[in-house]
Amino acid sequence: MSVQWNELIARDASALRASEIRDLLKVAERPDVISFAGGVPDPDLFPVDAFRDIYGGMMACDAQARRSLQYSVSEGLPALRQWIVDDLADQGAMRDIDNILITNGAQQGLDILARLLLEEGRNLIVEKPSYLGAMQAFSTRLPNYVGVDAEDEGPVLSQLEDAFAKGARVAYVAPDFQNPTGRSWSIARRKAVLELARRYGAVLLEDAAYSKLSYNGAESLPSLLSLDAEGADPAMGNVIQLGTFSKTLAPALRIGWVCAPRPVIDKLVLMMQAGNLHVSTVNQEAALHAARKLFPGHLEKLRVSYRAKRDVMLQTLTDMMPDGVSWTRPEGGMFVWLTLPAHIDARQLLEEALEDVKVAFVPGQAFFTDGSGANTARLSFSTEKVDRIKDGITRLADLIRRKDNQ
Ligand SMILES: Cc1ncc(COP(=O)(O)O)c(C=O)c1O
Repeated sequence: MSVQWNELIARDASALRASEIRDLLKVAERPDVISFAGGVPDPDLFPVDAFRDIYGGMMACDAQARRSLQYSVSEGLPALRQWIVDDLADQGAMRDIDNILITNGAQQGLDILARLLLEEGRNLIVEKPSYLGAMQAFSTRLPNYVGVDAEDEGPVLSQLEDAFAKGARVAYVAPDFQNPTGRSWSIARRKAVLELARRYGAVLLEDAAYSKLSYNGAESLPSLLSLDAEGADPAMGNVIQLGTFSKTLAPALRIGWVCAPRPVIDKLVLMMQAGNLHVSTVNQEAALHAARKLFPGHLEKLRVSYRAKRDVMLQTLTDMMPDGVSWTRPEGGMFVWLTLPAHIDARQLLEEALEDVKVAFVPGQAFFTDGSGANTARLSFSTEKVDRIKDGITRLADLIRRKDNQ
């Protein structure tokens, strides 16, 4: 008798679904397609020479090489955690090394936090729209999503308060250059959201994946973590922050971290032990060397390059898009969020865009938990060159104008 996989696969694993647009987006990888679909950093900006030296240097000395190739503690390397504590302090968030856990990218942080804080039917507040990967991690726990609409300044406070008042105690939020919209919350909204969380004893999972990619030269706005002064007591605070080197050094390092009150970290460390023991020792050391050696100069290089791409995308949208199409104006990160006239379905538009004008993007509906957003799209400006960005947006605008006139 053959194995009855449908019966064997656990209910929460069954909740995992492949994205319907994945196959469509495979076409986006063809060189003749101008792709605004990927959400990955520009590989031309990876500090390859520095990593060649760093990994070579680590292997050049016998004692160092043996340390780097050995198992290490589940919390993560103390020196790397201390670097993160110092960096947070520079941003005004006073935390302790015991508040930091190193994870396999921020994605693993999302996964273990989901396992720690969510269970079937428990309310989870998410912004509408939200990062798809986070929702994939959360969905395995079968939570009850409570969507809160987002305005340019941040989430709608009355809706957030309503969700807290009805018993929700966990909210996943991204105040800086959000994936997928590129939006950033105003300082007033940051303070108001934190105040609400405090009033209801709720926790804010702050995804800070893009915080360092601020393009306007101005200082980044304070994180929820830094505004959460209670967190200076290592056991206290309403904010758990997720960080990563994926957008600032290289995603293949798979080095992220969770900054959380001690009771949370203590449990997460046990989950790390059970799940994968620890994050690669050699990559943690390489990331630490790279951060020490390259920051802040390398960050400035990233900002200059991405800012130029963003500028071209926004200018071409302004020059070319027909009336009735609107978009966000991100001050950092990698994404612009497009809202099309209500009668245009972005999935159908993607099919036509791939076929007719060889342009790819991600239809926005995937970023909503309630199936809304059919007329929205995420455009990433990170990997294409500026002339192709101009060309791609022009072609997309032509297609939308043609559809509008139909
Ligand atoms: C908002 C957001 N959070 C987390 C992640 C996961 O990043 P990491 O590579 O650190 O796992 C991503 C990756 O694209 C992201 O966009």
